[in-house]
Amino acid sequence: MRTTVVAVVMAMMCVMMVHADVKPQRDFNLQKFAGKWVRVGLAYDSPSFVPYRDKVKASIGIITPLPNGNVNLTMWDATPMGCQTKLYQYERTNVPGQFTYFSTRHNMVKDITVVDTNYTEYAVVLKHKVFNREYTQVALYGRSQRLRIDVINKFKAFALSRGFPRDSILTPPPAENCPPSGSGR
Ligand SMILES: *[C@@H]1O[C@H](CO)[C@@H](O)[C@H](O)[C@H]1NC(C)=O
Ligand SMILES: *[C@@H]1O[C@H](CO)[C@@H](O)[C@H](O)[C@H]1NC(C)=O
Repeated sequence: MRTTVVAVVMAMMCVMMVHADVKPQRDFNLQKFAGKWVRVGLAYDSPSFVPYRDKVKASIGIITPLPNGNVNLTMWDATPMGCQTKLYQYERTNVPGQFTYFSTRHNMVKDITVVDTNYTEYAVVLKHKVFNREYTQVALYGRSQRLRIDVINKFKAFALSRGFPRDSILTPPPAENCPPSGSGR
């Protein structure tokens, strides 16, 4: 019991540190951020996610900017039930590079920060709950499945520095046929 409490408090402290000093990419440009991204890295420390860690595949997403500054994100996830498509709608905030969305799975508003991107190669994206921050994710997106090792190492170091345990930092293999070939992407 006591260890559980200590673990929870430590997890909360880690995530509060995450929130404190993370700034979005300077001069974030949504148009340059648009298009296809592959989620080649993922740090996620939720206990409920642990059994799935070795089954995760690299998801593929398409970012479509809307005229009002919001974003539609279409994601393809390879799951045991097959390739699943999900649409997320990210709403702009006053801070470029920062968005909110309503998670139907967790039934709450979360926020998304594009921490670092060079638009043509990689992006580091942080996701957290706005008010209640126990579980946070850091994702590394690449314009292709293969990224330079120094970009991957930088992502791992960033996740470690935010308090993610080493075994929660994944670099999943490519998904097979997800999205299905011939679906246009
Ligand atoms: C964004 O998603 C909404 C909801 O599914 C859809 O109605 C709209 O057409 C989409 N816009 C674009 C530009 O894809
Ligand atoms: C992003 O990284 C790629 C690969 O190293 C490089 O070719 C490109 O010039 C970089 N873009 C910017 C804007 O720094």
